[in-house]
Amino acid sequence: ALPRDLVGRRVVVSAGGTREPLDPVRFLGNRSSGKQGYALAKVAAQRGAHVTLVAGPTDLAAPAAVELVRIGTALELREAMHEAAKGADAVVMAAAVADFRPSDLAGHKIKKDGSEPPPLRLAVNPDILVELVAAREPGQVIVGFAAETGDETTEFLEYGRRKLARKGSDLLLVNWVGEGGAFENADNQGRLLGADGSETEVPHGSKALLAARIWDAVATRLT
Ligand code: C5P
Repeated sequence: ALPRDLVGRRVVVSAGGTREPLDPVRFLGNRSSGKQGYALAKVAAQRGAHVTLVAGPTDLAAPAAVELVRIGTALELREAMHEAAKGADAVVMAAAVADFRPSDLAGHKIKKDGSEPPPLRLAVNPDILVELVAAREPGQVIVGFAAETGDETTEFLEYGRRKLARKGSDLLLVNWVGEGGAFENADNQGRLLGADGSETEVPHGSKALLAARIWDAVATRLT
């Protein structure tokens, strides 16, 4: 049976990718499927939490007994996360947030004009995880994800440690996204790094299994 260790807790999970519009019909996006975030939301609800799932565009069915908030852009995700994080016991940023957005949104479909492509100017999106850490309420546990490439055994862990320090979250799930890695895949694997120096290997398995290991680590940190 699943543990009921999240009863009475309110948790927030972000999932999926963001879409950054260029014009009314085009956007910059990424390959995130949303599966890991949806699995996190589902498992938390099964363990008794009240769950808010903030999700980018995906075809996945909303998990049962989860409050679903839909977003499109990184800026919408930011607003939704700050709102949902108020009074939450735990926040997990599993979304693949676009680092950049087109700096101007054309009001009409951008036309082909001779052979010159139109210029594409980008603006930097805020780092939502860093902002959530800065706004963290007492006792709130915050989890980030890091998709890293590089040498699977050592390099990606070093990147992960550095990223954990930079983001300031309590936990960071580092996964390797080389060939056969996490994106669009049913399975996942990685290392769960703790700001306390802890490191837990999460062996290859379903995204639900990885979600369970993350909630285990969160539950032990909730006071
Ligand atoms: O810096 P990087 O994109 O590798 O960090 C990944 C983590 O930071 C994920 O938890 C992701 O949801 C979060 N993130 C964010 N805002 C951004 C970029 C990433 O919250 N603009």
